[in-house]
Amino acid sequence: MTDAVERAEAFRDYAEQTAGCTKCALAGGRTQVVFGSGNPDAQVMFVGEAPGFHEDQQGLPFVGQAGKLLERLLEGIGLTRGDVYIANVLKCRPPGNRDPVPDEIAACEPHLFRQIELIEPTLVASLGNFATKLLSGRPAGITRVHGYEQEVTLGTRKVLLYPLYHPAAALYTPSMLKVLEQDFARIPDLLARSTGEQNPPEEQESPEPVDAQPTVQLGLF
Ligand code: URA
Repeated sequence: MTDAVERAEAFRDYAEQTAGCTKCALAGGRTQVVFGSGNPDAQVMFVGEAPGFHEDQQGLPFVGQAGKLLERLLEGIGLTRGDVYIANVLKCRPPGNRDPVPDEIAACEPHLFRQIELIEPTLVASLGNFATKLLSGRPAGITRVHGYEQEVTLGTRKVLLYPLYHPAAALYTPSMLKVLEQDFARIPDLLARSTGEQNPPEEQESPEPVDAQPTVQLGLF
């Protein structure tokens, strides 16, 4: 069996196991586990916060308004949902779409890390504060770090982490949407860089985050 086939099987097995997860109290209120969707062999993975109402009903991440925007942003850089893998920090919907709490994040974290280990992405785009803080292991908020890629080790793998605003935050804020589009536009280059394909060295440099920028913690995103 090839490595890719083995990984695909392991991924399916893991999704099946996770469907019955009872590691935290969210199991009691969910319709179903929202494991993730897309190409489990993708080079790029997007990680959001948690399923909302529609995701919980349909069993798929990002199928509501924020998902439609995410699809549009992907289209803008020549990608479809089928080219990438989309998952969340939490696999179950928090009641009333409230913020994830630390116990839930800690209970669910192994699922996300196992997904990353099996998918082997080279670029991971974190959408919003919760995914960014979890995957960077740092407290800096998304307003300060969006658009600044950083090398991180997730489990046993080195990946390029690319924090982005959460699409839900940009839905009704045109200025944020503009920034999100600009940040998205860098993904093809970062992807090429993360897979070691191309780009002259000077284009690989990115500016340091500016300390003077305000650190705003967007509660939801
Ligand atoms: N917001 C998220 O963070 N994830 C989803 O799946 C949907 C909306």
